[in-house]
Amino acid sequence: TPVAILISGRGSNMTSLIKACENPDFPARIVLVLSNRPDAPGLEKAQEAGVKTLCIDHKPFGKDRAAHEKAVDEAVRAAGAQYICLAGYMRVLTPYLVKRWENRMLNIHPSLLPKFPGLHTHEAAIKAGAREHGCTTHFVTDGVDEGPILAQAKVPIHPHDTPETLAARVLKEEHLLYPATLATVILAS
Ligand code: GRF
Repeated sequence: TPVAILISGRGSNMTSLIKACENPDFPARIVLVLSNRPDAPGLEKAQEAGVKTLCIDHKPFGKDRAAHEKAVDEAVRAAGAQYICLAGYMRVLTPYLVKRWENRMLNIHPSLLPKFPGLHTHEAAIKAGAREHGCTTHFVTDGVDEGPILAQAKVPIHPHDTPETLAARVLKEEHLLYPATLATVILAS
């Protein structure tokens, strides 16, 4: 099943998805990695892995989010993708893209949703005195980090954790959870 990945940054979750797809038994293949930022380090990593990449910078589109999304949508469709995985894609989506990819666009978020949506989740979890934390995969809907939850992985929060040590613990789980979720969603469809 052809899948596109949207990134804005380092792309470690992207890499975990690409790696999973290298297994012939895995039910997805990555047909495109698309970034809204020309300087996203993940673009180079995708190229090194032999995956087609594209950058559609949002800046020339100014405030016209829908026009940028239209360009993204067209590129993803032209690549033949049937699913989109957001992997550190730092754009708030409008209903334009969300509707078109209903139940076919996945995201990973570094908290146990509905706890700690938005940014700085690790810091927030530590400050809240939480004993556990983790990551969530979910379908993308109009609300940021609000779509139906697909799967979660938990990690403990240790007394001396910093946002960085906690983030690293969560990220390890993200790299397992996202490919597993993608396979489950595709096989269930
Ligand atoms: C991850 O923590 C992911 O959960 C969040 O953004 C971060 C992206 O990291 N949505 P990477 O680019 O996949 O390394």
